[in-house]
Amino acid sequence: MVFPIQLPHDAPFTPDQRAWLSDFLTQILAPGSHVPAPSGPAVPVTVLYASQTGTAEGLAKKLIKSLKKGNFAPELQDMATYDRSRLAHEKNLLIITSTYGDGEPPDSAADLHAWLMSDAAPRLESLSYSVLALGDTSYPDFCKCGIEFDTRLESLAAVRLYPRVDVDVDPDAPYSQWSAGVIAALCPTNSTAAPRSEPAESEETGYSKSNPFPAAVLENRNLNGPGDKQTHQIALSLADSDLAYQVGDALGVYPLNPANVVDEIIANLPFKASEVPAPDGSEVSLRHALIHHYDIGSLNKSIIQKWQAKSGSPFLRSLVAADDKKAYDDFCWGRDLIDLVIDHPADFNDAEEFVSILKKLQPRLYSIASSPRAHPGEVHLCVGIVRYQTFGRQRGGICSTFLADRLASAQPPRVYVHSNNAFRLPTDPATDVIMVGPGTGIAPFRAFLEDRKTTAALGRNWLFFGNPHRASDFLYQQELESFQADGTLARLDLAWSRDQKEKLYVQHLMLQSGAELWAWLQQGAAFYVCGDASRMAKDVDQALLQIASEHGKLSPDEAAAFISQLKKDKRYQRDVY
Ligand SMILES: Cc1cc2nc3c(=O)[nH]c(=O)nc-3n(C[C@H](O)[C@H](O)[C@H](O)COP(=O)(O)OP(=O)(O)OC[C@H]3O[C@@H](n4cnc5c(N)ncnc54)[C@H](O)[C@@H]3O)c2cc1C
Ligand SMILES: NC(=O)c1ccc[n+]([C@@H]2O[C@H](COP(=O)([O-])OP(=O)(O)OC[C@H]3O[C@@H](n4cnc5c(N)ncnc54)[C@H](OP(=O)(O)O)[C@@H]3O)[C@@H](O)[C@H]2O)c1
Ligand SMILES: Cc1cc2nc3c(=O)[nH]c(=O)nc-3n(C[C@H](O)[C@H](O)[C@H](O)COP(=O)(O)O)c2cc1C
Repeated sequence: MVFPIQLPHDAPFTPDQRAWLSDFLTQILAPGSHVPAPSGPAVPVTVLYASQTGTAEGLAKKLIKSLKKGNFAPELQDMATYDRSRLAHEKNLLIITSTYGDGEPPDSAADLHAWLMSDAAPRLESLSYSVLALGDTSYPDFCKCGIEFDTRLESLAAVRLYPRVDVDVDPDAPYSQWSAGVIAALCPTNSTAAPRSEPAESEETGYSKSNPFPAAVLENRNLNGPGDKQTHQIALSLADSDLAYQVGDALGVYPLNPANVVDEIIANLPFKASEVPAPDGSEVSLRHALIHHYDIGSLNKSIIQKWQAKSGSPFLRSLVAADDKKAYDDFCWGRDLIDLVIDHPADFNDAEEFVSILKKLQPRLYSIASSPRAHPGEVHLCVGIVRYQTFGRQRGGICSTFLADRLASAQPPRVYVHSNNAFRLPTDPATDVIMVGPGTGIAPFRAFLEDRKTTAALGRNWLFFGNPHRASDFLYQQELESFQADGTLARLDLAWSRDQKEKLYVQHLMLQSGAELWAWLQQGAAFYVCGDASRMAKDVDQALLQIASEHGKLSPDEAAAFISQLKKDKRYQRDVY
């Protein structure tokens, strides 16, 4: 697929140069095309990435492949292991980073980021750089980490060779724009930009994010007993797909929106439903477009601003005029598109204008809960089903309710493998493993345990799991107990948060066994966390610091350095969401 290249408005070109360059870049990105090659000695380029769940890493590798087609000497570097003393000697640095938590760097970027922001960072006059910042506008601090790298390098006197591009969830088009822009900027103006004769990379074949696989559903079962929670074990067939995965990867799932909500939206629109363009340019019915292609879920500032421009709602007018972040957040919380349609009618001319303000429906990621060695040809997920009631309406998460409720009548779910090298079992099977995964955080650890069992890995395994009630929420109880019985699990610590008066969480159990946990770490164990990012993962991190300080007799600074070294050594990995 080729995207027309739009150059950023602040790119330093005249209108004529801009038009020519856009056209040129669009053409060179076409399948079968070549990357322009500066003449003379190969141009050194370091591609430095920081990724929490693999997207930035995937793009960095793709960029390296493109650079190798031209006269460049590209080098791939992970921020986790990057030797920062190199920075002052780099010539061309291309940074690709995501943002995590509440506007924080990914784990692998934390150290480099902190150092670069500090007074210890050197002047970088001889460095040329550009940043691709991955993020999601549904988070308040959109692309904050990439923005900080970009502005800090500029303040250290490095030269921006191409403007930063900020990515809102879907990287395809912005990545194409940015990579073409930086490659063009890396070619000296007097170079002949001669294409090399080597064959161009063939167009992507097989199943992928842009060509998802329709996977037959083998099993769809609620793992919870009667109670508030609903968590589904979903087994999908990968037969005839050629899709392969490793434990630690995630599966991307394209959901369909609920037809009943779509019908309610259409019934309340002021115009006659007609054909509309889908995001891929094809013409489909409005109903089809709203079920398959457009996001009718949660609201954000951008859609409210666009809606307000078409609506006479005094409330929306004052909300937009105030431009207050908290007021936007308060309004958006618990509301969806249907609330705008019904409560704040808007005067769209036609269906096409209406869909033009909607965002593309995005796939959701799920940590893979199976080992391919234990279940060849299958992939299993452990999905928490999101249901809640707000403003008098029963609502559901789009993808989790699609998987729980709408699979039978819909076509098979379309899926792809999202590789994540930042969440991998130790390469040495004799290494001990400590896993902390409450709630759906159990998913990758079921896969780890299956893998460690089928490979007869010698290292010990210790799992911390938690959920509200033992009676109803002990996910994979039989499997975990049999892992205990056959010795795969050396220890299983269970935190039932609501089975007693005081909350009991996984980190409380870690602290209770702090001496032993410290001993495991001292013997080389790797430490993994999966599940809720906003509270649990932070509290577990604090508990780990406390254990290092109490049982390792480390000062706060030494404990922090110990944790940071664990991350660098890839012995502390997190898959949190
Ligand atoms: C790398 C990664 C791995 C993941 N692995 C797993 C996994 O193994 N298992 C799993 O279950 N999930 C996992 N997730 C989360 C998953 O991707 C989805 O985010 C989750 O299933 C919710 O998606 P949804 O489409 O059902 O809900 P959405 O339609 O996206 O709705 C979620 C939104 O609903 C709103 N909402 C939810 N509850 C309430 C409430 N009580 N009141 C008001 N508003 C509310 C919030 O705005 C929330 O953001 C993972 C995420 C990532 C990034
Ligand atoms: N950021 C996100 O969007 C996000 C994050 C996590 C989960 N989810 C979604 O929410 C749904 C259910 O999630 P889930 O099954 O993974 O369960 P969960 O809500 O993460 O809860 C699992 C267990 O963790 C406990 N817990 C709560 N706060 C904690 C803390 N600070 N430290 C340690 N443990 C804590 C809970 O206890 P109590 O409930 O009793 O307090 C419960 O026993 C899923 O759809 C999932 O995708 C979304
Ligand atoms: C738990 C969580 C927190 C996130 N926080 C932010 C954020 O604060 N700002 C932002 O712009 N994007 C945020 N994102 C979106 C990611 O940056 C985005 O999905 C990115 O493509 C992930 O790239 P990676 O796979 O390379 O880590 C967050 C995503 C998750 C799952």
